[in-house]
Amino acid sequence: MIEKPASEGVASVMAINVEFSSKDALQGTASALAVLVFEGGLAKQKPFAAVDAAVGGRLSGHAVANEFTGAPCALLELAVLGGINASRVLVVGLGPKRGANGAAIRAALATAARAAQLAGSESLDVICPEQIKGPNVRAAVEGVGLGAYRFTKYFTGERVPKHELRRVTFYRPGVYTKTEQRAAAVGQQIVDAVCLARDAVNEPPNELTPAALAKVAEGIAKKYKLKCTVLDKAGIKKAGMQLHYAVGQGSANDPRFIHLEYKPKRAKKKVVFVGKGLTFDSGGLSIKPAAGMGEMKSDMGGAAAVLGMMAAVAASAPNVEVHAIVGAAENMPDGAAYRPGDIFGSLDGKTVEIINTDAEGRLVLADALCYASKLQPDVIVDAATLTGACVVALGKLYSAFYTADEKLAKQFGNAAKNAGESFWRMPLIEDLRSQLDSDVADLKHTGERWGGSITAALFLREFVGSVPWIHCDVAAPVLFDAARGIYPKGGTGHPVLTFLEFVESFS
Ligand code: BES
Ligand code: MN
Ligand code: ZN
Repeated sequence: MIEKPASEGVASVMAINVEFSSKDALQGTASALAVLVFEGGLAKQKPFAAVDAAVGGRLSGHAVANEFTGAPCALLELAVLGGINASRVLVVGLGPKRGANGAAIRAALATAARAAQLAGSESLDVICPEQIKGPNVRAAVEGVGLGAYRFTKYFTGERVPKHELRRVTFYRPGVYTKTEQRAAAVGQQIVDAVCLARDAVNEPPNELTPAALAKVAEGIAKKYKLKCTVLDKAGIKKAGMQLHYAVGQGSANDPRFIHLEYKPKRAKKKVVFVGKGLTFDSGGLSIKPAAGMGEMKSDMGGAAAVLGMMAAVAASAPNVEVHAIVGAAENMPDGAAYRPGDIFGSLDGKTVEIINTDAEGRLVLADALCYASKLQPDVIVDAATLTGACVVALGKLYSAFYTADEKLAKQFGNAAKNAGESFWRMPLIEDLRSQLDSDVADLKHTGERWGGSITAALFLREFVGSVPWIHCDVAAPVLFDAARGIYPKGGTGHPVLTFLEFVESFS
């Protein structure tokens, strides 16, 4: 066994040296040169035209040949042998000029940084459109950091990458203000926070056990001087979290309950986040089919996001009180495992009849949501890789969110939009609630197959009391099949940025 905790709060991506310059970008010395362009009319855009002229018009010819118009995150690569110092030009689309907000800048720069990293470039010069100013500087720095991410921890010998993107220089006329420099520094820390969530998802489940996940939380607490409380298996039982205990009782890797607190002096609001932290979900006795079971190492994606959010919040330091609660466990079948037919009492006393041991996430969350509601926050937000039904409903790119509160729905939707992360609101359909009625206990934890993401949400609702609440079913987007925008292949860090935006929207 490796003694070192799986992720010590340190992201796999080495901090990139970010520099700002008001000099002529064409005199830059990096091995790659990125040009961000708006959609349409390339020739009339000064940065594009300047690089095109420097390389003898080959860039515009290449754009025409490849039908490149500057659509969001579209990439045009050109190897060059003179005219400029760089040996590679990366033209990336921002989409329509009017929509070129922070999210578009972040995604375009992630695309550029990923391409540079892939090409083995160690340095990248970026010609900035005038939109990269003020708060967008943070988004720009986030973009390059998020795009350069790779998970290489378990590679040895030939598989260890020989090159790494180390330096990025932004070229823009005029000086960068103190505020912009600070925004850049915060951006770097937010990259670390998102990549901490990615690392946790990418870590194999033999390393990232519930105890190791607690160590990740403790690492964040230490770095940012936050309060961190961890309950072990006996502590979970003693606290009365029988549902959480039951889910973990069939595993040799004991469960953990984690509570992180960020408490600024004059907080305007109190927000509590709750994350599903199943470090592996075999399904338990209601075991899953073999195909794709390995993907269930990502069943702690909600917990990873909530922990990453906490690091990001501590870095950006809004005047909002924020808590992160994680129910961590491993769902395994063995002689001690919980069974279909079992009945357990939850933290708030409601009894639950177990129908299917593979619907374990909502059980862990039920206790964690009770605990959260006792903190009497203004709002509870949970994130969980909760149902396959959600993936069927929305596909693999979108998360679902549920809330009965119209104002919160709008606020959360805007946060996701600013973050550039994909969420779709789903309905809490009252008529389905009766599926959770049990003959022998207060509640069953599953309903019919149809509408499975909705009945899961309705089950969770039973445990939040009267606290305004948003439930996020993030089943698919925490783990990607292929890189796209700010997300790499593998662990994505979704929805750390949305949660950060949401917290900041209260400050
Ligand atoms: N972790 C899974 C949900 C999941 C499935 C996440 C696919 C990501 C991709 C969850 O614990 C689960 O197994 N849910 C069951 C619930 C069912 C037994 C009611 C499901 O969705 O099949
Ligand atoms: Mn399951
Ligand atoms: Zn699960």
